[in-house]
Amino acid sequence: MNKTALITGATSGLGYEFVKMFAADGYDLVLVARNRTKMEEIKNQYPNLTVTVINKDLSQPHAAKEVYEDVKAAGITINTLVNNAGFGLMGNFEELDIRKQSEMIQLNISALTELTYYFLPELKKNTHTSRILNVASTAAFQPGPLMAVYYATKAYVLSFSEALVEELADTDVTVTTLCPGATKTSFASIANVANTKMFSRAMSSNEVAQQGYRGLLAGKRVVITGSANKLGAYAAKFLPRRFAAKIAKYVAKEA
Ligand SMILES: NC(=O)c1ccc[n+]([C@@H]2O[C@H](COP(=O)([O-])OP(=O)(O)OC[C@H]3O[C@@H](n4cnc5c(N)ncnc54)[C@H](OP(=O)(O)O)[C@@H]3O)[C@@H](O)[C@H]2O)c1
Repeated sequence: MNKTALITGATSGLGYEFVKMFAADGYDLVLVARNRTKMEEIKNQYPNLTVTVINKDLSQPHAAKEVYEDVKAAGITINTLVNNAGFGLMGNFEELDIRKQSEMIQLNISALTELTYYFLPELKKNTHTSRILNVASTAAFQPGPLMAVYYATKAYVLSFSEALVEELADTDVTVTTLCPGATKTSFASIANVANTKMFSRAMSSNEVAQQGYRGLLAGKRVVITGSANKLGAYAAKFLPRRFAAKIAKYVAKEA
């Protein structure tokens, strides 16, 4: 029986790169996102694999549970869970729409947490090693003025995932956190950060996903993509948090 990977945010950017990598390794796929048409197009690219499309807005409460129930109703067992879907928003916290910011928390934090919760029992039961890939960001390493909620959601993802690594140390489930820096995807235009200093040198989505995929297969705890991002994350550990926050604010300004 083929292994199956469930990938959230499978329709574009990093998620779509992961789709191609898992498909190349012969995995069956469960695609989760809002754009059904795009997911059907992706499904048609892989006639030799079982590709299941789940059209779901993960920023809505209960969506993660519904995804789990759909997967179970289809009789699918998941071997790899990729919690990738997410978005950011640029602006002063008090000026950004609170509904959009709450949806961000729901998507970036709650859906990721709940999907992990619902699928963990079957991941632990699998006879082979099972894997979880949680997509955080280099935003996880310091506070992010002008993207305050986004940075905080990614700090949660990193903290939660590293804690799970320890809880699951005696099991065959690995948890890898991917921390990309600026990457060329739809993220920048959606977050309204395309013209900022932080995006003046963005990595390709293929390169970032490849580093994440390799790290996942190797069972790494944390993968920070690119040497400049590694250096930045390392520096953030030693800088006083208020300086790290000032740097994050500086790079969020227009280039
Ligand atoms: N690009 C960067 O610079 C960067 C840097 C660090 C971390 N990241 C993280 O990388 C992850 C992937 O982002 P990306 O850069 O690949 O951005 P992207 O190209 O905008 O892709 C986001 C994906 O998430 C899906 N999605 C968005 N809202 C959703 C919702 N409410 N429900 C279900 N699916 C939803 C989108 O599909 P639909 O529109 O079809 O729903 C899309 O497939 C995110 O967690 C992001 O925070 C990105």
